[in-house]
Amino acid sequence: MAILVTGGAGYIGSHTCVELLNAGKEVVVLDNFCNSKPEAIAKIEQVAGRRVVLYESDLLDRKAVTSVFRENKIEAVIHFAGLKAVGESVEIPLKYYHNNLTGTIILLEAMAHFNCKKLVFSSSATVYGLSDNVPFRETHPLSATNPYGRTKLMLEEIMRDTYVSDNEWSFALLRYFNPIGAHKSGLLGEEPNGVPNNLLPFVAQVAAGKLPYLSVYGGDYDTKDGTGVRDYLHVVDLAIGHLNAFDYVLDNKGAEAFNLGTGRGYSVLEIVKAIERASGVTVPYKISARRAGDIPVCYADPAKAKKVLGWEATRDIDEMCEDSWRFTKQNSGI
Ligand code: NAD
Ligand code: UFG
Repeated sequence: MAILVTGGAGYIGSHTCVELLNAGKEVVVLDNFCNSKPEAIAKIEQVAGRRVVLYESDLLDRKAVTSVFRENKIEAVIHFAGLKAVGESVEIPLKYYHNNLTGTIILLEAMAHFNCKKLVFSSSATVYGLSDNVPFRETHPLSATNPYGRTKLMLEEIMRDTYVSDNEWSFALLRYFNPIGAHKSGLLGEEPNGVPNNLLPFVAQVAAGKLPYLSVYGGDYDTKDGTGVRDYLHVVDLAIGHLNAFDYVLDNKGAEAFNLGTGRGYSVLEIVKAIERASGVTVPYKISARRAGDIPVCYADPAKAKKVLGWEATRDIDEMCEDSWRFTKQNSGI
């Protein structure tokens, strides 16, 4: 039996494939490489010392998705594939709705057809909307502030409805907080196209001298130093959480949400300092205007994941930043 990993060549997917292979699982990846490169697959195999079965296919291609299930015995699916850029989702919402919603519906239909009803889904802390009622618990009211977030919210609802209609299904809805860091080998990490939107790749590129300075979006929030606070977690901890969730969907039925975060918040300036410690380089920054749609503080209550999944993040902020820095350094030719 194998695990199908959609979006397995991407940032979180590639790290998860390594952990699955290390745990002795058979892995089938489906990815269209719209936000990743085929080389990621070779790197996964290099790091893990084992092979994956690759389908370079689009989730929107129903025939291709069906072939994956016909040609492999798929025990469960870990579903990462989706578009994730918040700003872009505001500009081209229909592309986001089509890719994320239609692609997932095609996947669920194929799964139902082949009687494979266990799925681990990449949701996001973005489903907690603009609230500042931290720490966020899974029972917190849900809302969305942009089309990307709405696709996550709608997909969670589609999965809950699917379970209600057929109690054989098992869904783990994993609400990730802010994954950063990279694999220790320096081979796998986050490689955004163009100028990064997210804090970590941006700060690391400033430290590497690829970008002149960091704009800190807002210095007047009601936080410890006035800058935004987030729950950063190491991508390898996050990847390992998917193994726990995989075991959970094998043994349980339902549609259950879990926060995957550390439960600790760090400010933008604390991250700048951690990258400075890791790199030995001073990171120039300027406090600028708040970014539209940002909340001041966001961190998880991870108690449910610990209790039910037996999962807990173990890597600290220095390890996250050291690993991010190693990846940036090795991949930016400095
Ligand atoms: P990523 O872009 O690195 O990986 C997504 C992968 O899916 C890419 O390899 C892409 O080529 C593939 N893909 C996209 N649409 C596809 C399609 N129609 N058919 C086949 N392949 C397709 O993103 P990531 O950071 O690894 O995120 C993985 C998942 O986790 C996404 O669903 C994302 O929304 C979610 N998530 C990410 C974060 C984060 O901060 N990185 C936070 C919360 C949730
Ligand atoms: N920030 C800056 N300067 C930058 C980039 C970010 O100051 O150049 C600040 C932001 O204002 C925020 C913090 O750094 O306070 C983190 O910002 P990110 O863009 O790295 O992450 P977000 O928390 O805004 O969003 C991320 C993902 C979303 C996801 C959300 C919740 O990008 O897709 O986490 O999981 F929905």
